[in-house]
Amino acid sequence: MTKVVSLRRQGEFGVITVDNPPVNALSHAVRQGIVERLSEAQSDPEIQLIILTCSGRTFIAGADIKEFGKPPQEPDLNTVVNALQDSPKVVVAALHGTALGGGFEVALGCHYRIAAASAKVGLPEVKLGLLPGAGGTQRLPRLIGVLPALEMMISGNPVTAAVAADNGAIDRLSTGNLIDGAIEFARDLHSSQAPPRKISETSIDAEGLDQAFYDRFRESIAKKARGYFAPDRIIQAVQAAVCLPFQEGLARERELFVECMESSASAALRHLFFAERQASKIPGLSDDTPVRDIDRIAVIGAGTMGGGIAMNFANIGIPVKVVELDEDAITRGLGQVRKNYERGVKKGRMTADQLEQIMKLFVPITDYDDLNDVDLVIEAVFENMDLKKQIFGKLDQVCKPGAILATNTSTLDVDEIAAATERPEDVIGLHFFSPANIMRLLEIVRGERTSEEVLHTCVKLARKIKKVGVVSGVCYGFIGNRMLAGYGREAGFMLLEGASIESIDKAIFEFGMPMGPLAMNDLAGIDVGTKIREERRAAGTLPDDERFGLIADKLVAQGRCGQKTSAGFYSYEPGSRAPKPDPAVAALIAQEAARLGIEQREIDDEEIVARCIYPIINEGARILEEGIALRASDIDIVWINGYGFPPYRGGPMFYADTIGLKKVYDTICRYHDTLDDRFGYWEPASLLEKLAKEGKTFAECKR
Ligand code: 3HC
Ligand code: NAI
Repeated sequence: MTKVVSLRRQGEFGVITVDNPPVNALSHAVRQGIVERLSEAQSDPEIQLIILTCSGRTFIAGADIKEFGKPPQEPDLNTVVNALQDSPKVVVAALHGTALGGGFEVALGCHYRIAAASAKVGLPEVKLGLLPGAGGTQRLPRLIGVLPALEMMISGNPVTAAVAADNGAIDRLSTGNLIDGAIEFARDLHSSQAPPRKISETSIDAEGLDQAFYDRFRESIAKKARGYFAPDRIIQAVQAAVCLPFQEGLARERELFVECMESSASAALRHLFFAERQASKIPGLSDDTPVRDIDRIAVIGAGTMGGGIAMNFANIGIPVKVVELDEDAITRGLGQVRKNYERGVKKGRMTADQLEQIMKLFVPITDYDDLNDVDLVIEAVFENMDLKKQIFGKLDQVCKPGAILATNTSTLDVDEIAAATERPEDVIGLHFFSPANIMRLLEIVRGERTSEEVLHTCVKLARKIKKVGVVSGVCYGFIGNRMLAGYGREAGFMLLEGASIESIDKAIFEFGMPMGPLAMNDLAGIDVGTKIREERRAAGTLPDDERFGLIADKLVAQGRCGQKTSAGFYSYEPGSRAPKPDPAVAALIAQEAARLGIEQREIDDEEIVARCIYPIINEGARILEEGIALRASDIDIVWINGYGFPPYRGGPMFYADTIGLKKVYDTICRYHDTLDDRFGYWEPASLLEKLAKEGKTFAECKR
């Protein structure tokens, strides 16, 4: 059996290799192995200098997150890092892949670092609601300076080896074989009699690092850090690195690390780390399930969605045929695509030359016969069943056998669309979110007859285009939009019951959403909802409830469609996005409430949040119960990546588990009894009732 950590001698050098697939995480066996092999290397008189490296795809990618929350096992990570640092023989870390978190901290414990040119290093703990807890907050500022270290730890984003070499985190870049490069580096260190260089013994120049510096830094991250726990603790730990001797700083780091580990934000973010990876694991699909090659793509419709969808493929070098009704529509659509890329050029994300190259990947066509060679077509035309059926009928005739036919519909029945073809097994929903080139979420809608091969291909494809794919069954609105309905409904009802527009938006913003539901409505266009309600009313699928969307529809009737008309729930100065409360809207609401005989009252923030968020949870429970979502964590991933649910709350289902399903259930029952619930809006989902009564959580609810 191969050891998780091995030691071999190469001349006068001892090479310690960690081999713990897939990412060499610092499990107990790895920690213990490093300490033991290091000690063996110390006692081997032939070994003059030690190299620490990893096999497989990466250097150590961090602490083993799966061990978090379990009883700690010695040696802890600080013991490992300190053992490396205190080694009387020089230790060189040889990095490839991603040296992250505890992995990078291990490298910082070593005396010197060499990295493959393709390597990246970083301290991403903040993304798990943590801070670097094995000396990273104390060593990195000493090595590269306080501000760059803070920026790395607060963003959590890794930097390339070239950047790390530039700021001093890496001593040498290796262009050839890493181990050869490391041996050469070790030889140079040996011949120059370089001493073991301990970062802990370096001091930090505290010039300019007064309280005002930290205040300014806190202010600069305030918007992004809103609601999170760890960023402030990272700053405190770095302040300790500046003010305290190393050992005391390390002790302070430990205290703050424990605080972070115990925070609800970290529990939520760790849940999301695994939830995201879990989402691509679909019961019934395995590595043996075939995957089709997707090299040629077509998108039908170059409107708001089609253009953005096409960009995802062009961005990874796949040519996309773009189909429109006529030349004008294509010119308009691709003009918008170009504008999107031009913004990237302005921001320095791509060069003008790269823009021209990427635009060549968009192939405009108006003739469906040109679709005979594509592997995947994504339809993104108007939301109209007859039109979609007509298009799928045509695709069925022109596309080659085995081509995947996908629809981006947000509400229509994918099975009905599939039935317009002779190959429903090749039909699937690929529901992108707007703006499709930016939003990470992709709902992969599995029709009743969608084949496993097609599903598997789309799950893999999502990752390829850097989306997080979540599989949904077929229902109105799929996972996300179906759950959204109650959120907007209750915001509208509470207006009639006396809550002000600003108080609703403020409470929901403070809960952690990027903006409140009414400001969001103004941004997206209030008329979008009005149009959907009109269609649903005509189809008889809307409750016969006059309150439903009442204020929104009245505003649209007055031409107040939101930001685009400089007036909606709020007023806007032309060209400005800053919402201003408008007394005319408040008067309209009061007037409508009086007309309907609704008594207005004060509604506090707690009720506002519960009224908006609990319907999401309740519908999520139904979605879970019906098997539309495979698991509660998938629903969380949808809400985090598609709707801006605050990640530090872990998504609606995790949030519900955190506050306790009994509380959620009891509150829903109370609203059912007290809110004149003639239409059953507050009917508790039976799964919620069952779990609440059994004292269980959504997380325990496995299919
Ligand atoms: N611990 C345990 N498992 C881990 C892990 C970790 N640190 N990092 C990744 N994994 C697992 C994943 O869960 C996944 O498992 P699965 O196949 O069963 O789903 C598998 O490794 C592969 O991961 P990815 O699918 O993410 O593979 P990629 O190649 O896309 O990405 C990566 C690799 C960039 C290393 C990415 O996995 C990653 O970012 N990992 C987390 C890194 C991190 O956050 N490190 C800090 C940990 S906290 C820490 O170190 C605390 C310390 O300061 C005390
Ligand atoms: P849009 O109105 O902006 O664009 C539709 C485009 O399709 C137009 O450019 C039109 O010329 C073109 N088109 C119409 N018939 C065509 C045909 N027969 N052949 C080729 N092109 C044709 O619409 P949008 O917003 O892009 O929506 C498209 C689809 O995406 C709809 O099904 C919608 O429900 C869905 N969707 C929309 C989202 C949004 O936020 N706008 C979000 C997610 C999904």
